[in-house]
Amino acid sequence: MSHDSAPAPLTSSMGTPLTGTIRVPGDKSISHRSLMFGTLAVGRTTVKGLLESEDVLATASAMRAVGARIEKQPDGSYTVDGIGLGSLLEPEHVIDFGNAGTGVRLTMGIFGSHNIAATFIGDASLSKRPMGRVLNPLRDMGTNVIARDGDRLPASIRGPEQALPLTYRVPMPSAQVKSAVLLAGLNAPGETVVIEPIPTRDHTEKMLAGFGAEISVSLNEAGERVIRLKGQPELKPQNIDVPGDPSSAGFPIVAALTVPGSDVIIGNVLLNEHRTGLITTLIEMGGDIEIVNRRETGGEEVGDLRVKASRLKGITVPATRAPSMIDEYPVLAVAAAFAQGDTFMPGLEELRVKESDRLAAVARGLEANGIPCVETEDTLTVTGGANAIGGGTVVTHLDHRIAMAFLVLGMAAHKPVTVDDGAVIATSFPDFTALFSGLGAKFAAGASEAA
Ligand code: S3P
Repeated sequence: MSHDSAPAPLTSSMGTPLTGTIRVPGDKSISHRSLMFGTLAVGRTTVKGLLESEDVLATASAMRAVGARIEKQPDGSYTVDGIGLGSLLEPEHVIDFGNAGTGVRLTMGIFGSHNIAATFIGDASLSKRPMGRVLNPLRDMGTNVIARDGDRLPASIRGPEQALPLTYRVPMPSAQVKSAVLLAGLNAPGETVVIEPIPTRDHTEKMLAGFGAEISVSLNEAGERVIRLKGQPELKPQNIDVPGDPSSAGFPIVAALTVPGSDVIIGNVLLNEHRTGLITTLIEMGGDIEIVNRRETGGEEVGDLRVKASRLKGITVPATRAPSMIDEYPVLAVAAAFAQGDTFMPGLEELRVKESDRLAAVARGLEANGIPCVETEDTLTVTGGANAIGGGTVVTHLDHRIAMAFLVLGMAAHKPVTVDDGAVIATSFPDFTALFSGLGAKFAAGASEAA
C-alpha cells in the first residue's frame, strides 16, 4: 500500500489569517461501520458522505472479498449490496488493511464468528500494533487463530461452525475491542454481553440498532455500561448520511484558534458526546468556539462550529475525558504549545498503541520545535507561550495524525515546520492540504530552508 512508498516530506509555514467556511470529510468510525453493517444486511444500503480515505477503502476491499458489492454512484454516494449475516464467502486472497486499526479489528470480529478462513496483513505501523485485545475474546468464542509473536499481524483466523456467545468485560477503554466482540456476537446464537467500565464511542451500538439488531444498553450497580446483543438478527439495509469527522475537525479548529486573526466556520460536524472532548477542553482553555445550528441527523447530533483566534491558557485535562478525545491529543498538544502556562494531560496510556507510540512521537515533535514538554509513561505536560518556535523536522512514524498536528504547528509557529512524510495523511484526510490552502495556509513540498 502507499505507506510503503517513498516518504514525501512536507512543510507548512505561516500564511495569511485563516478565513472561510469548510466541511471536513466524513467520520472515519461511521464510514467503516457503514460498509461493514451494509455487508451484513441483505439488500442495498446507501451511504452519503463516506470518507474516501485509504483506511476506509481498505475496509471496502475486505467487504468485497466476502461477497459484498460496493460501488460509487454518479452522485458521489456509495451503495453496498449486502449478502447477509451468516452468508459471508471465504476470501480468495490475503486481506491487506494498510494502516487501518479500526478496519482490521472490527473485521476480525465479523469474520471470526463465521466458519471461513481469512488472513490479514498491514503496513509497518499496523504490524506493530497489538491484536491480542481482539483475538483473545475471539478465541473464547471458538475462533482458531494463528498470529505472529505477541499476537501481531500477519494473522490468520478461522471461525467455528457455531460461535459461542460471550460475556466480556473490556479490559481497556477501547471502542474497537467492544465493537469486535459485539460484531462477533452477531453471528453467535444467544446473547452476547459486553461490559464497558469506561464509556467509549458508541457508534456500533447506535448503528446496529438502526440496522434492526436487538441491542440494549443499561448501567449496572457499579455504573458500568452493559451492552446486550441478541445473536443472529436479520439486519435491514439503511440509508446513511455520514456527518463530518470531529477528529478531522480538530485540525482546523486548533489552526483557527492559534493563527492570529483567523475566523473559520466548519460545517456539519458530528457532536456525539463520546467524541467532543477536544472541543470541551479547548473552550476551557479559553478558545472562542461557538456551536451553532445544532441538529439531529440519522440518530446523531451534528452542528456547525465557528472558531476565532484566541488567547489560550494551560489547564489540566481530566483523565476521564481521554476516551472522548483519544485521537485528538496530538493536535491538543499543539494548541498547548501556544497556551500560556502548563497543559497537563494524564491518562494517556492508550496513546502508546495507536498508529505510532503517539505519546513519544508528540513529545519528540515538540522538542524538535523548541517547545518544552515532559513525557511520563502515561502523561504529557506541555509548557506553552504565545510564540511557539518551530523550525524543526518531525518524524511521523506512518501516523497521519502526527503529520497533520505538526503541520498545524507550522501554520502558527515562528518558523516553518517540516514533517518527514506528508503522504500518510491520506489515511484519514486526503484533502487536508487543499482544504487548508483554501483557508490561507501555506505548504511547500520537501523540507523548508528555514527549517
Ligand atoms: C475507533 C476507536 C478508537 C480510535 C480509532 C477509532 C473506532 O480506537 O482511536 O481511531 O472507530 O472504534 P481504540 O478502540 O483503540 O481506542
